[in-house]
Amino acid sequence: MSSAPPDGQIVAHAARLLRAGKLVAFPTETVYGLGADADNVEAVGAIFAAKGRPSEHPVIVHVRNIAAAQAWAGAFAPQARALAESFWPGPLTLVVSRAPRAHDAVTGGQSSVGLRCPSHPWARALLDELCRQTGDLARAIAAPSANRFGRISPTRAEHVRADLGEKPDGAVDLIVDGGPCTLGIESAIVDCTGPVPRLLRPGSIERDRIETALGRPLEVPSLEDGDVPRAPGRATRHYSPRRPLEFVNGAHLPARVRELGAKRVAVLASIPRLAEVQWWWVAPESPHEFARQLYDLLHQMDASGADRLLVQRPPAGPAWAALNDRLERAAQPPQDRFGDAD
Ligand code: TXA
Ligand code: MG
Repeated sequence: MSSAPPDGQIVAHAARLLRAGKLVAFPTETVYGLGADADNVEAVGAIFAAKGRPSEHPVIVHVRNIAAAQAWAGAFAPQARALAESFWPGPLTLVVSRAPRAHDAVTGGQSSVGLRCPSHPWARALLDELCRQTGDLARAIAAPSANRFGRISPTRAEHVRADLGEKPDGAVDLIVDGGPCTLGIESAIVDCTGPVPRLLRPGSIERDRIETALGRPLEVPSLEDGDVPRAPGRATRHYSPRRPLEFVNGAHLPARVRELGAKRVAVLASIPRLAEVQWWWVAPESPHEFARQLYDLLHQMDASGADRLLVQRPPAGPAWAALNDRLERAAQPPQDRFGDAD
């Protein structure tokens, strides 16, 4: 799956739009982001309007490197530094105390800010170009995932086009197409503001690698922990298709298909295909490949015409943790929803 290298003209145009306060959707290695100049309060406000997202939710500030991150952080504690040095650029967001530059529109009024240095060539090119055009090496892009609030995250430019759309008909000024995202699920988020670092959202970097880099165990707050800062996927329901999604053990899947009616369901599974089911996707075997394809598969299943989506529960275990987390959330009924769903 090759994606074209960054095109200098498109990148320069996108950076100019950001400087003018416009919204630019762009690829990162995890999912597509809906970006605005992080210093521009109004432009950051426009992100919330476009997504239909409550304005008190914080957005991640994307930076070029650790030096730029320091302009946005009040303090970069040794733990945060150790993680940034181990995993940046890459799919890890660090929540640290904020500097005055991180205004309320990006922090949601909290005393912390979420910082991430992406590795995707287009994201890096866009950050470099924005810094070059502004003559400001710490210039940053505020960006949540480029989907409507509570919907499936986008891993292809087409997903953003179908969900948010491009102006004049849609909500985004420019959608930069850098091909499919290589990792496919959102960054891991580690809160480094307290004495013990906390894993607020699992991602493709496994928990034990983060713990090795820290030299200590992470705390993993439970979903119901009211003391947790408003984090990304901390809504129970999140990443949701429009059709109800059920998360089913492989052994129970054939019976569940018969109960619901084979003509009405779309299935994503690794058990042998049931011939009577019209919409069937084979689940990728490795956690890495499954994560990469997850949101695209959910987008396809959602658009299939089925009334209900059945997804076979993947194996348990650390390599599958982030995937199980996203599927658990996608399967929550709407009435169980609380908190945010970014
Ligand atoms: O991989 C990713 O992280 C993608 C790409 C675009 O970088 N971004 C992403 O953004 O998933 P979003 O907004 O959909 O989820 C990020 C979450 C937000 O919901 C927010 O609650 C959390 O990060 N976050 C940001 N700043 C925070 C803070 N200061 N404290 C706690 N959580 C924070
Ligand atoms: Mg999101």
